[in-house]
Amino acid sequence: MKYGHFDDSSREYVITNPKTPVKWVNYVGSMKFGGIVDHTGGSLLCKDDPALNRIVKYIPQLPASEFKGETLYLRLKEPAGYRIFSPYFVPTLDAYDRFECRVGLGYMRWITEFYGVRSEITVFVPRGASAALRQVRVSNLRSEPISLDAVPVVEYTHFDALKQFNNADWVPQTMQSRARRCASGELVLMQYAFMNKNRQVNYLTANVPVASFETCRKRFLGDNEYGTWQQPLALLSAQLGDYEARRGDNIGALLLELGQLGPGESREFVTQLGQAASEDAALEAAAEYRDGARVARAFAEQRAFFEDYLTKFQVHTPDPSFNSMVNVHNPRQCHTTKNWSRYLSLYQLGLGERGIGFRDSSQDALGVLDRQPDEAKALMRMLLSVQKRDGSAMHQFNPLSMVANEGDSRERDDRPRYYGDDHLWIVIAVSWYLKESGDYAFLQEEIPFYDKHKDGSAIERGTVLDHLERSLDFTRKDRGAHGLPLLGFADWNDTVNLPTGAESCFNANLYGLALKELIELYDHLGDQASVESYRVDYALMKKTFNDVAWDGAWFVRYFDADGSALGSRHNSEGQIWVNGQSWPVLSGFADSERARVALDSVERLLNTKHGIKLSSPGYKGYDPSKGGVTTYPPGAKENGGIFLHANPWVMIAETLLGNGDRAYQYYDQINPASKNDAIDAFQCEPYAYPQNILGDEHPEFGLARNSWLSGTAAWTYTAATKYILGIMPTHDGLRLAPCIPRRWGGFSVTRQYRGAEYRISVKNPSGVSSGVKELFVDGRLIEGNVIPIAPAGSLVEVELVLGQAISSARYFAASPSADPP
Ligand code: NOJ
Repeated sequence: MKYGHFDDSSREYVITNPKTPVKWVNYVGSMKFGGIVDHTGGSLLCKDDPALNRIVKYIPQLPASEFKGETLYLRLKEPAGYRIFSPYFVPTLDAYDRFECRVGLGYMRWITEFYGVRSEITVFVPRGASAALRQVRVSNLRSEPISLDAVPVVEYTHFDALKQFNNADWVPQTMQSRARRCASGELVLMQYAFMNKNRQVNYLTANVPVASFETCRKRFLGDNEYGTWQQPLALLSAQLGDYEARRGDNIGALLLELGQLGPGESREFVTQLGQAASEDAALEAAAEYRDGARVARAFAEQRAFFEDYLTKFQVHTPDPSFNSMVNVHNPRQCHTTKNWSRYLSLYQLGLGERGIGFRDSSQDALGVLDRQPDEAKALMRMLLSVQKRDGSAMHQFNPLSMVANEGDSRERDDRPRYYGDDHLWIVIAVSWYLKESGDYAFLQEEIPFYDKHKDGSAIERGTVLDHLERSLDFTRKDRGAHGLPLLGFADWNDTVNLPTGAESCFNANLYGLALKELIELYDHLGDQASVESYRVDYALMKKTFNDVAWDGAWFVRYFDADGSALGSRHNSEGQIWVNGQSWPVLSGFADSERARVALDSVERLLNTKHGIKLSSPGYKGYDPSKGGVTTYPPGAKENGGIFLHANPWVMIAETLLGNGDRAYQYYDQINPASKNDAIDAFQCEPYAYPQNILGDEHPEFGLARNSWLSGTAAWTYTAATKYILGIMPTHDGLRLAPCIPRRWGGFSVTRQYRGAEYRISVKNPSGVSSGVKELFVDGRLIEGNVIPIAPAGSLVEVELVLGQAISSARYFAASPSADPP
């Protein structure tokens, strides 16, 4: 509880000490307009693309005490002169009497007290708007009157975020600001790069009179910038310089004279930082949120959106921290990863090196299927449009230009220029989307492949179903010496980059799962010829994999081009890899004996109190023949670190074997909420999953990094809802197959599915983990464990009693030893 606590009643996390080990952040808006707000008021905003249309300059590598992007100064007129401080603590670092930053759903809210002045500030982006609003209320807590000014400040960046850092002549020569008044008299500061003045105009305004303004950083800080953000020299004068910058480091600063506040008296104002297509459009947009009532309505709409988003799946179990993660924080993070892929965080800096990741976003889509199926579908459309005609996929793309590239595989001429796994993920995403939504018409929608004629037009289009078939086709043909799929530049593990010809067991199992999905789909569509043909492919890969990959107590992970195994007991480093064990269970390739032995090896050799490591032991030194994995010291990231994204796959595998206690132990040990009491070691936000935690070979074992944008969000949510709670959409209805800790007496869930509401109550009278003894739907005992699809708008009451399974074959439809359906 050192830095804060959960407030479940308001669905907020409350930071009460601003000196957190690293900045803790929240996301506002979406990539259409939005970004990151940190707990000390800094912001990083963009419109449509953080690399190509960035608005605010936020440099995460600067010390935590430094100004970043946006702040607010308050200025008290005292007998000895001005007292200047920020209600956000940074950048002035004054001693506070109260600090509260409430991390809400799509908003941040501060309540702070400094020098007898209480500030209550809420920042959010209204639904559909291209502006971030800050609603500010300041109150005088003293017993005498005070005289107060407020100065909101923004530091702009060049719209091309990387250029900002690599050209310190051209960039400042292009940056310009000007002040305009709207008809109603309020001042709007406009800022743009010269070439964008009729395209992308940033604006800063307030809904109260502006006494003076500044747009040049040098003048605001003063003394040739030997003035500081902690004490900007311009704030020592009564008024700002009213200077409209024609070049240089542009800022926006507005001096708002709030006047005298008697004891207990308050003042309110709203600032807006937005972007519009022209100065006139900016004036118009600025007018929309001048009215406090309109702002309040926009905030209510924003809250209603999340309320609706959350109510689509709510669970009540005996474990409050599970409830809080599944009901609030995990779905919020899934919403974030769906929006931002791996593009913009305090770790993925969105400077253009990445973009939307094909593999990443295909998985992120899984995390919002039950709450935002249409949004997931829109994302899948974009992804399918960067799939190539041969079935492989471009690794990443820029969402504004839709220009795609091959990612890091471009870095090495001696390695393949594609990833062996990307294209397979979309098969799973589309299939799960169909099972969720029943929207089979999507399969017939035509989407272009990425290959283009010289004029930029698509060479070929194909239906969504064609796209999926080509994904599988690519891998069927792209096989190596053992008959396993080739690695390409890398598979899910970006950092193992072996010489051309290497094979990947991960790709084999991902292919297996994708085949299973397509077999089920064709079965549902009644196309038995396709079912049979994909079954043959499945059986062949299953046999090949089992013939060559079993190493005695676990499966190997790769075969190098020369045929030697990686992830084998014969290796001294990288002996065992977790994905090598969980995925054969997910694909159904491992029989139950091998599955059990492999997962026991995971528990014995890879599990730690902070989570399951990706591999062990770590590589001890740089070895270019292995690739990026050896750039990390042992215990860090992919080199034997606790790479959280891979943990939920083990949870899922354990549930498929019916082991609810172990699955839950793995769930619980990475729950960020449980880190709240050991947060100085963990360091990252306790309300979002990080990507990685240092493993036990590292001296700083337990330290987390790369919070928020990680596949951990979607997959842990999937593990919790579809496998532990066991509520899995299928083509024929919701299948119930809970696999819970034996100590749970039961749980209840409200879930929407294809327009109907299901109220599910699970009872566990005999203290088991799994097995459906009885299933009642609207009071009627039904056979099996699939609840038939109910008409949209209906309410379905479901009661399930766990116990001796009525039909284990049907229950474990996805069991490891079962043949594909
Ligand atoms: C992070 C990447 O975003 C993800 O695509 C990849 O699977 C993991 N790193 C593991 O390398």
